[in-house]
Amino acid sequence: KGKRAFIAGVADDNGYGWAIAKSLAAAGAEILVGTWVPALNIFESSLRRGKFDESRTLPDGSLMEIKKIYPLDAVYDNLEDVPEDVKTNKRYAGSSNWTVQEVAESVKKDFGSIDILVHSLANGPEVTKPLLETSRKGYLAALSASSYSYISLLKHFLPIINPGGSSISLTYLASERIIPGYGGGMSSAKAALESDTRVLAFEAGRKHRIRVNTISAGPLRSRAAKAIGFIDTMIDYSLANAPLQKELSAEEVGNTAAFLASPLASAITGALIYVDNGLNAMGVGV
Ligand code: NAI
Repeated sequence: KGKRAFIAGVADDNGYGWAIAKSLAAAGAEILVGTWVPALNIFESSLRRGKFDESRTLPDGSLMEIKKIYPLDAVYDNLEDVPEDVKTNKRYAGSSNWTVQEVAESVKKDFGSIDILVHSLANGPEVTKPLLETSRKGYLAALSASSYSYISLLKHFLPIINPGGSSISLTYLASERIIPGYGGGMSSAKAALESDTRVLAFEAGRKHRIRVNTISAGPLRSRAAKAIGFIDTMIDYSLANAPLQKELSAEEVGNTAAFLASPLASAITGALIYVDNGLNAMGVGV
């Protein structure tokens, strides 16, 4: 009760970030979000025009309120990192203070502290290419946007996360099993994110009493997933092969995040929690 959450990676009502925001709001948390700069205008105007009102509805009938939306590009730690062409890009020039360090400073100025940090973002420019065809640049870009972005967020927010707080990221089974089609170094990026979850749990736990966990989620038809191109195949595969033969709802992942952020999970840190209808436990398709 009375907790405040910052969720990085919400730009519409289809993804895991949105569902996590809803579950946390339903549990009484105040919601702040970080939205990718190029997606900011359309997200804000859709919200304003009521396009998300139906999906903003909480179990008690009220509408989820997003207290503040911060523009964010998690690929840049501070202004010195931002190349000239991005600075002058029309979509970026219209906003300010969107590097990770600046967003953390703004949240501190506006609210003082948070209790829950959620990283629900990923990007791999060459995700549709097999690993053997991935360029060095594409691979490093996937790691930068999808893995280091989490280290950077946690590093910059850590001083304002209240002790006893919790941090959560989203990962995917392709880090540990072969999933053809999840290319461009994205499988590598998720493997890094999972390994970092353990090391960060140690460092943030010892230093700040903050828990760090990651949710390995099953397939969801989000905007990012549709861009990869094989999401319908993955959903069908899960329906056919997982122990639980039902479509996974984003809310199930949201509810797990709310549990992990709550005192009910006070001894859970450094963990990878599967929320995938059990698909990860299968050895063969049936
Ligand atoms: P989504 O499209 O709702 O979320 C991804 C978000 O990342 C978008 O809002 C996008 O604007 C933002 N983003 C991309 N680059 C960014 C940057 N440089 N700075 C700030 N924001 C940036 O899609 P989804 O699928 O809900 O993704 C959320 C997380 O869930 C990701 O980590 C993804 O890998 C993970 N996941 C998704 C699965 C799926 O089937 N959809 C399965 C397992 C994990």
